[in-house]
Amino acid sequence: MRKSVILITGANGEIGHGLISSLQERYQQNIVALDLKVIDPEIRPHVKESIAGNILDKALLDQINAEYQISEIYHLAALLSTRAEFSPVAAHDVNVGGTLNLLELAVQQARSHGQPVKFFFPSSIAVYGIPSLKIKQKITKIHEDEYCFPETMYGCNKLYCESLGAYYSKHYQRLSDNSLPGLVDFRGMRFPGLISAVTVPSGGTSDFAPEMIHAAIQHHPYDCFVRPDTTIPFMTMPDAIRSILELMSAPKSNLTRQVYNITGWSASADKFRDKMQSVYSDANITFTVNEKRQSIVDSWPADVDDSAAQKDWGWQPEHHFQNAFDDYLLPGIKAHYGK
Ligand SMILES: NC(=O)c1ccc[n+]([C@@H]2O[C@H](COP(=O)([O-])OP(=O)(O)OC[C@H]3O[C@@H](n4cnc5c(N)ncnc54)[C@H](O)[C@@H]3O)[C@@H](O)[C@H]2O)c1
Repeated sequence: MRKSVILITGANGEIGHGLISSLQERYQQNIVALDLKVIDPEIRPHVKESIAGNILDKALLDQINAEYQISEIYHLAALLSTRAEFSPVAAHDVNVGGTLNLLELAVQQARSHGQPVKFFFPSSIAVYGIPSLKIKQKITKIHEDEYCFPETMYGCNKLYCESLGAYYSKHYQRLSDNSLPGLVDFRGMRFPGLISAVTVPSGGTSDFAPEMIHAAIQHHPYDCFVRPDTTIPFMTMPDAIRSILELMSAPKSNLTRQVYNITGWSASADKFRDKMQSVYSDANITFTVNEKRQSIVDSWPADVDDSAAQKDWGWQPEHHFQNAFDDYLLPGIKAHYGK
C-alpha cells in the first residue's frame, strides 16, 4: 500500500521552514519535503522523507507518484523576483514548468486515489503592474481583479500559474461524476513581502525591509536599495503560515475566489528605518537606489484589499506594524542572533 503524505516543494525556503514546523503537529511527520538543495538538518526530523531534487525532473516526480498517496501539495519552490529578472528563461522554466509538473502530479494522484488533491500556490503582489507612481498614490487598496499587468518575469509567471490552477480545478473532473468537485482543489494566496525573525530572504525585491531589520539588530550598516518613500504591503511569517493553514482548511463551499489578496500592514522604507533608529540609535541605514529593483517595487501596490479573504475564510492578521516589531520581530531576531 502506498504511504499517505502531503508534499511540500521548496521546503528549504523561508516559508517552507515555518510551514513544516506548523504542519508536522497536524500531520505527525507524514510530510515529504522536496528541495533542490539537501533538506536542512533542522527540517529533517519533522518529515517522513527528505528529497534533494528538481521539480523539473519528471522521473523524480514519477517516482514520488508511484511511492506515495498524496492528499495535499504545498508548492513553494520558485525563483523569486530579483533573481528571476537576472535569469528570466530559467525562472519561466522553474516557476511555470515546475508548477505545471506539480499540477499534473496532483491530477494523477487524484485519479488514482479517487479524492481531490488540495493544492496550495503562493502567488504574490508581483502579479500587479501599476503604470506610474502617480496612479500608485491614487489607489488606496488594490482589488484582486485590478491592474493585473505584471512588469516582471516573476509576476508574469505567478499570474499565469494562478490561471493554470483555475484551469486544472475546472477542467479535470472526476470521470465518474461531473457534479463532484474536480480532481485538483487549487487555492492560491497573493502574499505581500514577508518578514521572518529567523530567516533572511534572498532574491526577492521586498527584501529591503527584512534585510534592514536584521542588519540593525546585528549592529551592521545597511544600504537600502529603494527610495525612502517606497511603500508596499508586508506581513510577518507567522501570520503568513497561519493564513496558509486557514485557507487550506476552509470549507470549499465558502471560497468565492481561486486566489486571495492578503496583508498585515503597509509601510514605507523610511518608516522601517525610523523604527529601527528609535530602538537602536546607532543604526546606520542609508539609501542608494538600484533603479531596476526600484522600478519593480514602484509597479507593486502600496496596499491590497483583502476583504474577500476576511469574508470567505475569516482572515485577520495578528500583527500590524507596531506589534509586529514589539511582539515578534525585535524579540525573535534578538533571540535568533543571541543578542
Ligand atoms: N517570501 C516572500 O516574501 C514571498 C512573497 C510572495 C510569494 N512568495 C512565494 O512563496 C514561495 C516560497 O517563498 P520563499 O520565500 O520560501 O522562497 P525561498 O527562495 O526562500 O525558497 C524557495 C525554495 O525553492 C527551492 N527551489 C528553487 N528551484 C527549485 C527547483 N527547480 N526544484 C526544487 N526546489 C527548488 C529553493 O532551493 C528554495 O529553497 C515562492 O513560490 C515565492 O514566490 C514568497
